[in-house]
Amino acid sequence: MKRDLLSIKELSKEEIEKLIHDTRILKRRRKEGLKYTPLEGRVLGLLFEKPSTRTRVSFETGMYQMGGDAIFMSPRELQLGRGETIEDTAKVLSRYIDVAVLRVYSHETLERFAQSAEIPVINGLSDLLHPCQILADIYTIYEKLGRYENFKLVFVGDGNNIANSWINLAAKLDFELIISCPKGYEPDAEILEDALKAGAKVKVSHNPGEDVKDAHVIYTDVWCSMGQEDEKKERLKAFRDFQVNDELMNISSAAYFMHCLPAHRGEEVTDSVIDGPRSIVWDEAENRLHMQKAIILFLLGINP
Ligand code: CP
Ligand code: NVA
Repeated sequence: MKRDLLSIKELSKEEIEKLIHDTRILKRRRKEGLKYTPLEGRVLGLLFEKPSTRTRVSFETGMYQMGGDAIFMSPRELQLGRGETIEDTAKVLSRYIDVAVLRVYSHETLERFAQSAEIPVINGLSDLLHPCQILADIYTIYEKLGRYENFKLVFVGDGNNIANSWINLAAKLDFELIISCPKGYEPDAEILEDALKAGAKVKVSHNPGEDVKDAHVIYTDVWCSMGQEDEKKERLKAFRDFQVNDELMNISSAAYFMHCLPAHRGEEVTDSVIDGPRSIVWDEAENRLHMQKAIILFLLGINP
């Protein structure tokens, strides 16, 4: 049966560990300049309703480096834009391409596509989740801390798709997670409840100054996600006390700073933090490439 990656929930702990391990192998091989082209003749299709720099370019580059090809499609240019259904699109694309990555507003669009598709489908971000980002992030933490469990990560900001995927991961791996957000901007209640039932060490809190104490990683994301541009004014006000600046970073003097990017400098993070010595955002962005490759191979049943 085909496998999809719509959510981290679908992966077992062992599979997440395998992805971390495979990413390490693929990254090392790339750094050593060794050719590895198991995907000759295979095509990855990217169907994106929203803009993207990292996700798009890392998936496309990853395919080329592994000997395959990639096709980028915007719904506007497909018959989808003229009313062809997502189900019919999925059935047809399945006859041409080998894997699909979708970036969508509604998570339901992704589920409907995946149900009709005969090929593996990857979530390249939905309003609800961003699993590929968080898998690359846990690999980055493993690189920096030497472990992917027994650490404390504090997500400061909006209870958005990134926060939700961190909660999903906390239900699989043993680490402490605090979502430090303004009241009214909490993560998805169902995802949180599920994670707590599964034994996740996750807490939602509203006091960043307290929450970041003893953190190994302080993580943030934009206050206005794609599609929320109309809410900008009220959000800027609501998140005022949730900026990651030097003062907040200095409460936990050893913590790394992470951000999925793109950053809105001067809003959720200051220049001094993102460009500072504890920021690992560029390695984090690079690791998207290596993890995407591991994910594609995993779903195609190829062992690197
Ligand atoms: N972090 C991330 O997904 O970036 P893009 O929106 O540029 O793909
Ligand atoms: N929460 C952000 C993540 C971007 C990678 C958004 O959805 O716009």
